[in-house]
Amino acid sequence: MKQVWITKLGGPEVLEVREAPDPEPGPGQVRVRVQASGINFADILARIGLYPDAPKLPAVVGYEVAGTVDRIGPGTTGVAAGARVVAMTRFGGYSDLVVVPAEQVAVLPAHLSFEKAAAIPVNYLTAWIMLVHLGNVRKGDRVLVHAAAGGVGQAALQICRWRGAEVIGTASASKHERLRALGVAHCIDYTREDFEAAVARITGGAGVDIVIDAVGGKSFRKSYRALAPLGRLYLFGVSSFAPGERRSLIAAARGLLAMPTFRPIPLMNDNRGVHGVNVGHLWREQAKLRAMLTEIVRLCGEHTFDPIAERSFPFEHAGEAHAYIQARKNFGKVVLTPRKES
Ligand SMILES: NC(=O)c1ccc[n+]([C@@H]2O[C@H](COP(=O)([O-])OP(=O)(O)OC[C@H]3O[C@@H](n4cnc5c(N)ncnc54)[C@H](OP(=O)(O)O)[C@@H]3O)[C@@H](O)[C@H]2O)c1
Repeated sequence: MKQVWITKLGGPEVLEVREAPDPEPGPGQVRVRVQASGINFADILARIGLYPDAPKLPAVVGYEVAGTVDRIGPGTTGVAAGARVVAMTRFGGYSDLVVVPAEQVAVLPAHLSFEKAAAIPVNYLTAWIMLVHLGNVRKGDRVLVHAAAGGVGQAALQICRWRGAEVIGTASASKHERLRALGVAHCIDYTREDFEAAVARITGGAGVDIVIDAVGGKSFRKSYRALAPLGRLYLFGVSSFAPGERRSLIAAARGLLAMPTFRPIPLMNDNRGVHGVNVGHLWREQAKLRAMLTEIVRLCGEHTFDPIAERSFPFEHAGEAHAYIQARKNFGKVVLTPRKES
């Protein structure tokens, strides 16, 4: 099989395609011939050495794939060979063959492309956990979505639209027109305008009901202040720790120092909640993840959700794909494909 390896810490050039023996499915497992592997920001953090959960390098990362089941392990039930599926893989997803337990796959609706399917697991599960499972987002809520044009951001937008909530989104200015067309009510160019001041302006000082924030550092503090009474803040990443193509310990240290401390008494008096989310640390909760993934895939089947995966890069150009995301050019998900064409 063909895999994309992070060979060592460094820039996008450290990604390399290597051959490895084909894996065989064991009891309860299936083998998926991969057509698209999702790239997540965490993969970039792993490459530059800012992702403590990543496997020791050299390693193959990748949390999700879509493709066709081509072999079934002994005693495996529930999925047939030939089924088009999406699979959750905790690492190893940058491969053209993966072996996973059958409970980590969901069968795809016929209309959904493999590229779109590979955009589902991490982005939609993360957004779903924050907005649906925990946040109870509902009609009339105002939700501040940071990096609204990113992978998780687009999933969050679609969930908010489905629930009838209004989205205020931060993004680079070049993405605003498209975000508005997709239903973002107010766009904030966070490079030009302080987002906390912008939220106060947009909401007439009332604040928002939910913020989802993976920027990290001082952004967490400002997001908390942007909440209305009964507001909920979900913390789920630290994109700002990675301002360049390589690791900057200074940026990471600055970000860590700028993180707020949340104390019980002020939280009570403010009537606000703060919650952390890390889907990678929910890996042992497969029954919960699977139930959520099944519901998300069902909603994709009904066209309620339409994952955006407009850029795919062949495995050989995986470095370009990472650089593309780090240059903030992506809109929605970026996927890798074992096929040669781009
Ligand atoms: N805790 C969890 O379980 C979990 C799960 C999934 C993702 N995450 C986190 O959520 C965040 C978004 O993940 P994603 O995979 O959907 O990525 P993404 O949002 O598609 O990431 C790229 C986008 O982020 C924005 N951005 C903000 N700061 C950036 C920076 N310093 N460098 C590069 N881009 C930056 C850029 O958009 P603009 O220029 O438009 O702002 C860029 O286009 C990441 O921090 C990720 O680690 C956490």
